[in-house]
Amino acid sequence: MNDPIFHVDHLSLEYRRHRRQFAVSILKDVSFILERGGALTLVGPSGSGKSTLLRCLNRLVEPTLGTVWFEGRDIRSFDPRDLRRRVALVMQTPVLFEGTVGDNLRVRPADAPGDFSAARLEAALAEVGMEPDFLQRDSTTLSGGEKQRVTIARALLRDPQALLLDEPTSALDPPNALLVVETISRLRVARGLSIVAVTHQPELVRRLGGRLLYLVKGRVEAIESIDEPGAADTRLQAFLAGGSLPEGARRT
Ligand SMILES: Nc1ncnc2c1ncn2[C@@H]1O[C@H](COP(=O)(O)OP(=O)(O)OP(=O)(O)O)[C@@H](O)[C@H]1O
Ligand SMILES: [Mg+2]
Repeated sequence: MNDPIFHVDHLSLEYRRHRRQFAVSILKDVSFILERGGALTLVGPSGSGKSTLLRCLNRLVEPTLGTVWFEGRDIRSFDPRDLRRRVALVMQTPVLFEGTVGDNLRVRPADAPGDFSAARLEAALAEVGMEPDFLQRDSTTLSGGEKQRVTIARALLRDPQALLLDEPTSALDPPNALLVVETISRLRVARGLSIVAVTHQPELVRRLGGRLLYLVKGRVEAIESIDEPGAADTRLQAFLAGGSLPEGARRT
């Protein structure tokens, strides 16, 4: 196994909605390791804590107990902006502001380093399968799948080491979803990116490969390699064959 890029070490998270209320436990003693260049897909019922766990990996959410190690360092020792550049989050609904695709690709913190020349922007678009003339396009006129690919290109321009994907295709129609799936799986190989994804789409899970982590009520029920058929938990086998997970795991 390669060096770990993420080591999630006994993570627990509680929310106390009001001061006098009992705390609600959202994540319960979650541990896993993701090797560099590896992929891990989080699956489980709605409300089981998948998005929360994903957001613990770049400090958009702080756990109550436990530690996330990234590249051998406690993530609390990174500047949060530097951490979020290295560990980029792609959400279900792409967020672009008004202006051209080029304007959206150039956006970054004032002091952020990097090459944002037209040639580099075009190269980033090419990596997500888009032609250079998209740079001049008004971002509000793009399809959902094009918008999602622009958000991925924007993350790539900042040279991330890892991508966190939170249902990146669930707001898209099947052809656009497939294009985004192809883009992500190609990038994983081409850039050696490490990926943690939440998805209900078996096609994306299969294309990413790696392992599946099954989360139920904040607890890890199973972690299985999907590259070794036969080893998988029967519930996960059924999911990979295109079925749904128990307990209403698949949202409609
Ligand atoms: N800031 C918060 N304060 C209180 N409770 C929260 C907060 N954020 C999330 N929760 C609760 O934590 C639980 C897990 O939420 P999370 O969004 O991680 O689930 P999920 O597995 O991603 O679900 P889905 O598949 O529906 O996206 C839910 O019960 C949610 O209501
Ligand atoms: Mg979620």
